[in-house]
Amino acid sequence: MNFKKKILCIGAGYVGGPTMAMIARKCPDYKITVVDINAARIAAWNGPEIPIYEPGLEEVVRQQRNKNLFFSTDVDAGIREADIIFVAVNTPTKSFGEGAGKAADLQYWEKTARQILANSGKGKIIVEKSTLPVRTAEAMERILNSNDKGLHFEVLSNPEFLAEGTAIADLENPDRVLIGSRETPEGLKARQEVVDIYAHWVPRKNIIESNVWSAELSKLVANAFLAQRVSSINSISALCEKTEADVGEVAYAIGTDSRIGPKFLKASVGFGGSCFQKDILNLVYICQSYGLTEVADYWESVVKLNQWQQQRFVQTILSSLFNTVAGKRIALLGFAFKADTGDTRESPAITVARGLAEEHAQVVVSDPKAVPQAKIDLKDLGTFVEFEVDPYKACEGAHAVAILTEWKQYKDLDFDRILASMQAPAFLFDGRNILDHKALFDKGFNVFAIGKTPLSHF
Ligand code: NAD
Ligand code: UGA
Repeated sequence: MNFKKKILCIGAGYVGGPTMAMIARKCPDYKITVVDINAARIAAWNGPEIPIYEPGLEEVVRQQRNKNLFFSTDVDAGIREADIIFVAVNTPTKSFGEGAGKAADLQYWEKTARQILANSGKGKIIVEKSTLPVRTAEAMERILNSNDKGLHFEVLSNPEFLAEGTAIADLENPDRVLIGSRETPEGLKARQEVVDIYAHWVPRKNIIESNVWSAELSKLVANAFLAQRVSSINSISALCEKTEADVGEVAYAIGTDSRIGPKFLKASVGFGGSCFQKDILNLVYICQSYGLTEVADYWESVVKLNQWQQQRFVQTILSSLFNTVAGKRIALLGFAFKADTGDTRESPAITVARGLAEEHAQVVVSDPKAVPQAKIDLKDLGTFVEFEVDPYKACEGAHAVAILTEWKQYKDLDFDRILASMQAPAFLFDGRNILDHKALFDKGFNVFAIGKTPLSHF
């Protein structure tokens, strides 16, 4: 088949895979190739079991694969034939040298730029899909355009706003798509080409155009604002626990103000995921490097509060269990950083499991999708941790159960059965506020939720 355009995506992860599958579904006239250096990942995309769990994704991949959606490890060949290249490689926090612990590690991104240049026989549109520090496009342009082949590359920013667990719905029906470019004639022409892709299915009014720096910065700011709401309500949850106010009632009362709005006000054991902390720390580092110390400190407090909230949860377990958990079996229901994903990156469950193991508890980790990854994340904990997919078996003989991920099936568990199999007195810690606490208390549990007065039988 003769395709109108050839699109390449470098990086077949949580962003590259789903976004390109959706573009393939909506743009049958375009050929989409997704490449990665991770051969196992590419083999999985081409196999019966795709490498990430994301509701609805497998069906889209199955429908488009080998029609106009291709997965390959041949990065060089992909670059050679592409007209437009999306780059969705990982941009983790730098762990060494200048800016370690805060700045974005751009080594994967820069390698990609050099590889694009080495394999290009014509100028191309390069689209930043990864989340990057503001003004990265400038460095990329310098690398790409300082060539002796006379080639010109336009670097655009098209950050991704999908959330894991709802990626397909988010991609199919996005609140907005943001496309930033240079405001030169070449930049605007390239911008139009990227707009044309999304205009296949996204209403034109939801496609926002901006300059390239605004697009880069907006992605960091969106994540910072979302995370800030979670830290704000979590800070109030601690105050609620001291004052007999109920954080759910407070969140509802403030969220009905249309200026505040109801979303992202669910108090929890803390936010996780690969991006919130990483992107805020990146923002903090950028502010520091421009001498904006007060701005940096303001945003850093969002991350600090989140770390404190996770440690506070461990403390609550410890103090409720008579200040010792040594040798006590504690079942953690949920290990993924949120429901409907197998992703555990920066999951608060990691902090909780480690905090309890440090106190020599016998931690049992259960999760419908994330147990294989949990085994990797906690492999250094040795005999302090066990893994059990079945939540009932995980809770057998436990002194305490803690809900750490809001999986729907945990709401429907038979808690009479669980209580009967546990040690007495039985403790339940709801780190996601998804259970009926009064009903569980009436059954005999001692119940500790986030931002609520504990329901204790003694
Ligand atoms: P990921 O780690 O799941 O995937 C990145 C992939 O890039 C990996 O498979 C890796 O092997 C590949 N890669 C790295 N260097 C490469 C190279 N030189 N050539 C080819 N492949 C290479 O990461 P992700 O979660 O998909 O995130 C990617 C970017 O998107 C990050 O900047 C992240 O901040 C951003 N983002 C992520 C999400 C999310 O929900 N995970 C949402 C929005 C934005
Ligand atoms: C987040 C953003 O929502 C996406 O827009 C963005 O594209 C993505 O980061 C990214 O850049 O990677 P994601 O991390 O997948 O998406 O999931 P969220 O739904 O935002 O949840 C993040 C964390 O906050 C989870 O641990 C979740 O449980 C927690 N959370 C969320 C709360 O504790 N309370 C809330 O009210 C909402």
